[in-house]
Amino acid sequence: MKKVLLSGIQPSGDLHIGNYFGAMKQFVDMQNEYDAYISIVNYHAMTTIQTGRELRENTLKSVIDHLAVGLDPEKATLFVQSDLEGLNELTWIFNTLITAPYLERAHAYKDKAEKGIEPSMGLFDYPVLMAADILIMNADVVPVGEDQRQHVEMTREIARKFNNKYGDVFKEPKEMIMKEVAVVPGIDGEKMSKSYGNTISLFATDTEIRGQVAKIVTDSTPVGESINPQNDNVFALHKLFSGKEIDELRQRYEKGEIGHKESKDILAENIIKYLTPFRKTREELMNDKDYVYGVLKEGAKRANGKAREIIQKVREVTGIKYV
Ligand code: ADP
Ligand code: TRP
Repeated sequence: MKKVLLSGIQPSGDLHIGNYFGAMKQFVDMQNEYDAYISIVNYHAMTTIQTGRELRENTLKSVIDHLAVGLDPEKATLFVQSDLEGLNELTWIFNTLITAPYLERAHAYKDKAEKGIEPSMGLFDYPVLMAADILIMNADVVPVGEDQRQHVEMTREIARKFNNKYGDVFKEPKEMIMKEVAVVPGIDGEKMSKSYGNTISLFATDTEIRGQVAKIVTDSTPVGESINPQNDNVFALHKLFSGKEIDELRQRYEKGEIGHKESKDILAENIIKYLTPFRKTREELMNDKDYVYGVLKEGAKRANGKAREIIQKVREVTGIKYV
């Protein structure tokens, strides 16, 4: 029996190559090994997204983007959070177990509130909804970035509290901290992030890719002199995109046989080669929304099928089911 994996993805706008190597690619790699469920967490996104239109569009876009980079709906169950019956009910039940002072300790909540995001009850309760996402599927493992470790700890705490009060219903899931292969640098050399405006978009056109790569910040080593590959932002990206030729590139760097311009030109072409199939698939999916809706319908069916047993048990042991 394969272990159950669950992760949630916020449908939050345009994706970049840092998101791909830091998260999406790892989901794609894991879909063979696990009974994988990937939830597009639209309820969570409501803590930041402000209009119905934006939420609807981002949700569908996020689904398409993940299919485009190779998430296979035959292998993994891809579904939208709000299609799962009983999820909000479970969140409510967990809310009656967990205290406000405990939730006040959440780093993510404190950080977001400090950044000026309105501290709505939804933002405050975010970890409890996340616990419901995980526990409703009886997940064994939860792949997340380091910043989400505490939320998975809170999930275990909620599972323990429930089990102590009502008897053993939930497993305690484990976080699987996704190694950021190395943090992917942006064109300015800082961590690539949509909030820094230093990204190379995952679905950029060839011209955009060439333009972004040309802007990568480098030192001023003249052509003919050796460049230390370890300190070079262009080389850091070569490592992700160049396969076998990486050793040859490293030698050329060290021997002074390649200048920044040539290196960037090679990188741009390699990125284009790598990303073109993603972009093509994405365009096809954009023109075949019925297929995408079909994937989500099937995903919802499978996810609900899996969750139903837990929800029924919870209703019984809590006395919510009264006959
Ligand atoms: P952003 O910083 O652009 O807002 P998010 O915080 O939405 O990105 O991150 C979504 C996922 O992508 C997370 O799992 C995060 O760890 C990963 N990720 C984002 N930027 C990078 C990066 N530069 N290198 C590696 N992984 C990244
Ligand atoms: N909080 C996660 C993030 O911001 C997204 C998320 C929601 C999630 N529910 C989840 C992740 C359940 C793992 C499991 O990245």
